[in-house]
Amino acid sequence: MSLLCVNDFEENAKQKLSKINFEFYLSGAGQQRTLEWNKTSYAKYRIRPKYMRRVSNRSTSTTILGKNVAVPIGISPTAFHKLAHPEGESGCARAAESFGSIFILSTHSNTSLEDVARAAPNGRKWLQTYILTNRKITEEVIKSAEAAGFEAIVLTVDFAVFGIRLVNIKNNFMVPPNLSASEILEKYRKDKLLENFVEFSDPNADWDYIKWLKTITDLPIVVKGVLTAEDATLAVKAGADAILVSNHGARQLDSLPATIEALPEVVKAVGSKVDVYVDGGIRDGTDVFKALAMGAKMVFIGRPAIWGLAHDGEAGVKEVIGILKNELDNAMAITGCATIKEITQDMVVHESYYSR
Ligand code: FNR
Repeated sequence: MSLLCVNDFEENAKQKLSKINFEFYLSGAGQQRTLEWNKTSYAKYRIRPKYMRRVSNRSTSTTILGKNVAVPIGISPTAFHKLAHPEGESGCARAAESFGSIFILSTHSNTSLEDVARAAPNGRKWLQTYILTNRKITEEVIKSAEAAGFEAIVLTVDFAVFGIRLVNIKNNFMVPPNLSASEILEKYRKDKLLENFVEFSDPNADWDYIKWLKTITDLPIVVKGVLTAEDATLAVKAGADAILVSNHGARQLDSLPATIEALPEVVKAVGSKVDVYVDGGIRDGTDVFKALAMGAKMVFIGRPAIWGLAHDGEAGVKEVIGILKNELDNAMAITGCATIKEITQDMVVHESYYSR
């Protein structure tokens, strides 16, 4: 079976993975309406091309947090990569490295941050953290990330408590005994503090947490999970260096907006001060194009990278990023954009524009 697009990789993963593991990756919270909207909302936007603009020499490179990326498509943090393939997080990190992109390692990783750093020493790597109840552990983890060459901390703020993921409850999903639920926090388990997931996230946190983070590290803080102008403003006031608009792949609360719907208000509120990125529902190059036109400096993919991993480890993730990069480049050529900068806001409109 030749796999030509991200949706082919999803179908292939469905065949390859056990039902329980595939559904763990695929599923969202509640009735999974937001899960659907993340994808279908992209179809509500149309691309307005600008032809005849000399596009034989094109580049997808851009600058993110002061450094170059060759392609504005990174990998969002997702849990338990070794359920998809033994190469796990290292395979994903190497694939991102080979494209000059960015890999975000989840706290719920089956691979330690040191091993990921060894696997992809020259790749740009960011570490995702939750707001652990125990700040001393957070401090130690961040120091380890700094020592291992991670370049930013991605703070997930949409996780006061676990979302209600009915599919996982029905399937009785559990991390198998041979894998750790967090290789990064494993060494602290003896503490008893992390015996269960409750301690992964402090429901009592507020925006001052970012101020505290800034006192323990010089790494930039990317705040992940913001969906409103108000929260974006508060996050930036507290010291956020960038905002990743996300609804956690629709796994936290059903009826949150699709991320492409939420992106414009966040860009309007803080886009002139900090980078804004987006993830959720990106399945082809035109989705990437639309997100960039609507003000995202970069996009991130969650499940598509997992589908690549399930197909063929690192090589499969490379195929997926390669497909999205090629589709983005194709959209740029046809719409008259030789550079990422030329993908401007006037090139994407909501469908209602055409019924005026
Ligand atoms: C996630 N996501 C996530 N986010 C996070 O901050 N920490 C995490 O550990 C995880 N774990 C996780 C596991 C799985 C299986 C999925 C699918 C998602 C959310 C993730 O970072 C990202 O926001 C979404 O996956 C983006 O949506 P798409 O690209 O999967 O549609």
